[in-house]
Amino acid sequence: MSDIFRKKSVSLLIDESHSGEHTLKRSLGSLALVALGIGAIIGAGLFVRTAAAAGSHAGPAVIISFLIAGLGCAFAGLCYAEFAAMIPVAGSAYTYSYATLGEFVAWIIGWDLVLEYSLGAATVAIAWSEYLNNLLGNFGMHIPYEYCHSPFQTGADGVHGLINLPALFILLIISLVLMRGTQESAVVNGIIVIIKVAIVLLFIALGWKFIRPENHVPFIPENTGKFGEFGWTGILKGAGIVFFAFIGFDAVSTAAQEAKEPQKGMPIGILGSLVVCTFLYVVFSYVLTGVANYKDFGVGGAGHEASVAYAITTYMPGYSWLSIMITVAILAGFSSVILVMLLGQSRVFFSMSKDGLLPAVFSDLHPKFKTPFKSNALLFLFVSVFAAFVPGDTVGDMTSIGTLFAFVLVCAGIIIMRNTDPDTPRPFKTPLVPFVPILGILVCAAMIYGLGKENWIRLFVWLGIGLVVYFGYSVKNSKLNK
Ligand code: ALA
Repeated sequence: MSDIFRKKSVSLLIDESHSGEHTLKRSLGSLALVALGIGAIIGAGLFVRTAAAAGSHAGPAVIISFLIAGLGCAFAGLCYAEFAAMIPVAGSAYTYSYATLGEFVAWIIGWDLVLEYSLGAATVAIAWSEYLNNLLGNFGMHIPYEYCHSPFQTGADGVHGLINLPALFILLIISLVLMRGTQESAVVNGIIVIIKVAIVLLFIALGWKFIRPENHVPFIPENTGKFGEFGWTGILKGAGIVFFAFIGFDAVSTAAQEAKEPQKGMPIGILGSLVVCTFLYVVFSYVLTGVANYKDFGVGGAGHEASVAYAITTYMPGYSWLSIMITVAILAGFSSVILVMLLGQSRVFFSMSKDGLLPAVFSDLHPKFKTPFKSNALLFLFVSVFAAFVPGDTVGDMTSIGTLFAFVLVCAGIIIMRNTDPDTPRPFKTPLVPFVPILGILVCAAMIYGLGKENWIRLFVWLGIGLVVYFGYSVKNSKLNK
């Protein structure tokens, strides 16, 4: 019987990071890390999921939802920072947990991260499709409803969706870029970050004078009698939904190997990008729900899709130029988020495959481009199924619940590690252990609770499939087994 709690040693991990086909240069300072975080963070969560949460669950109180989600991320972020600084190699929660909590927990986290990265990419691709359609509308064109919606969606005039072609298109383009190989240049990332923050600020500044105070009343709409539909359960469900907008700050931790002073840079990068984003999100959602009434954003409402462009064209007369500009910027911004997510997914699978937990095809490199091109192609097929045939709300909620679950495990990991490995040097220590990790677990668990039964079942089914794969394949093929 193999030991499913076997661990990969930290020194082996660090050795591997030096002996790879290329060794990454330590070139990122704190500011570049904050920029990297913001680049990965601002996306569909803000420009699509915010309105969905306000329209169907929280109303104007989506602002409180953002504060809850930000708080959960801050606690979990402090735990991520301890791991990232302790094991400053490229990787993610999967890599840390293999060294610290053993193979089985690492497997669960790695498998669970598929929800974060792959379904996250699908969610953003669907959002891309909404904004593309909105942009075309400015020029008198549109993609027929059935070709840009999933079969589970029905339009206002009773038309059923068939397949979401624009979402497939953007995934294909980005997958091809990844196969060809991209040196994510800090400059390109920097430009996209500036554009993203600029549109958020521009919308806040110009939208402010169009806020109608009556739209914020009642601030917490009364619960309809159903769990998660307004009232406090609605705020909690809203928090689980807009949590999506924060996903990606952990991407900073994957760059630990490229950080100049990981001990100092990691926590500043992770927490700095979180603070900036929480502030922007709260103000942005205040303006959005003030300009348009939250009811417009409900399912079937006129502003359910491409909500920001809708709010501008409908309630901010004279600013249609702004709507077009913002839409173009949003499309570019979404593309970069999809790129980071697909890249993250292929990196996690690359590590899992190198460790023998997944088939070698996921770490085969292209002879010339040196990219895991087969993995990129397989992942494209997998992500496409969700992007083409499942509604954005569903994949978005699955992304949130999967990531929240990973956060809970990371928080628990810090408490366990302080007991099992008290002497491993920790350049950055999570403050007030065990309180901070426990609060992280509680806030993230509350959001998991808020996401409701359907999503719990989806998470269980996914993890169940993971167990079958682990015991059917990975446990026997693990390199540590040999
Ligand atoms: N946080 C990223 C987004 O909102 C995933 O698109």
